[in-house]
Amino acid sequence: MSEPFDAVSVISAKRDGLALSDAQIDWVIDAYTRGVVAEEQMAALAMAIYFKSMTAPELTRWTLAMLNSGERLDYSGLEKPTADKHSTGGVGDKITLPLAPLVASYGVAVPQLSGRGLGHTGGTLDKLESIPGWRGNLSNSQMYQQLEQVGAVIAAAGVDLALADRKLYALRDITATVDCIPLIASSIMSKKLASGTQVLVLDVKTGSGAFMTEYAQAYKLAETMVEIGTANQVKTLALITDMTTPIGTTVGNALEVQEAQEVLAGGGPADVVELTLALAREMLHACQVDVDPAENLANGKAMDSWRKLISAQGGDPDAALPKAKHTHTINADESGTLTRLDALGVGIASWRLGAGRERKEDQVQAAAGVVLHAKPGDYVTAGQPLLTLHTDTPERFARAQAALDGAWEIKVDSPEPRPIVLGRVE
Ligand code: URA
Repeated sequence: MSEPFDAVSVISAKRDGLALSDAQIDWVIDAYTRGVVAEEQMAALAMAIYFKSMTAPELTRWTLAMLNSGERLDYSGLEKPTADKHSTGGVGDKITLPLAPLVASYGVAVPQLSGRGLGHTGGTLDKLESIPGWRGNLSNSQMYQQLEQVGAVIAAAGVDLALADRKLYALRDITATVDCIPLIASSIMSKKLASGTQVLVLDVKTGSGAFMTEYAQAYKLAETMVEIGTANQVKTLALITDMTTPIGTTVGNALEVQEAQEVLAGGGPADVVELTLALAREMLHACQVDVDPAENLANGKAMDSWRKLISAQGGDPDAALPKAKHTHTINADESGTLTRLDALGVGIASWRLGAGRERKEDQVQAAAGVVLHAKPGDYVTAGQPLLTLHTDTPERFARAQAALDGAWEIKVDSPEPRPIVLGRVE
């Protein structure tokens, strides 16, 4: 078959800072998915985009072409509005767990496609798989049925969504082209648009434990993703939220499920509740459901919705969660206010304890992780427990502790409390 373009001319146009035409973009993404554009040619194009960026219309088209390279889910037959949330990834970020059933308890369908842990950030599927019997591999028709009957589903993103992104993401990983805002934004948005939602709320993290450590970068990423979503007729908005310290008091799979259940029972740490409610308000408001979502956390309706969600996916909501065979507690070495507890250090420690993977094929430990006994702003006294490390394999303690070297500070002065929601883009 003769091709309408050749890869070299597309690469050189971008290398020279020109905007690619819709036809060039459609062709290059399709030809790459078909294997006609070679990996080394796409690597060169990704690097040219890294240096020369893309205009807003180019980026919208690029995302659409990636979206069209795979399957697109369709929930337009449901008699409910649909809303989805995506977080760019953080430490202790268990928010999807209480959020999806909470939003569903108000009659909004939540088709939540989730992933597994990546590096020091945990994955929602790994967390839920610590519940005995629960499974996240559902067919499209099972997902549809569950949305009709339960209102929320949390499932593994199918291999057929945004096929071009699957190839391109693996290529970017080995060609130093991951940290490029247009490529990140189009990668995330092509998958989210494929999930068939009408409303998308993005939780863009910033701080030491996030992909985007600086606020300005996080803001730019949020703006770019909101523009792409809006141009594709999905009501999209973003909150920019703090990731300098872990969310809540637990990091690790079963430990985080336990904390999410506390929130659903009307308790739980204040920051987890605040972020869950902030995201729920945005999702519900965008679907024209104007309620105070705190009510269904307090009256048990969100918990009922969680129990249905877990049971529908084979899990036992009453089963005891796995507990680690070994624990090691680290105490405060002086008295004062805990002024810093670094998200990245705690995330890496939890990963090294077995909560995350070293290689893609590794199994995670359900019970591994870190429990925080104090959060920044709390007063601690010398000798008081600060962190407890959990693992089934105690030979991991030493490397986990090394990751925590210098990860906290205790001082006499009290820091200004840092808000969790730092910005909003619509
Ligand atoms: N997550 C994605 O899905 N894609 C990126 O490029 C970065 C994070």
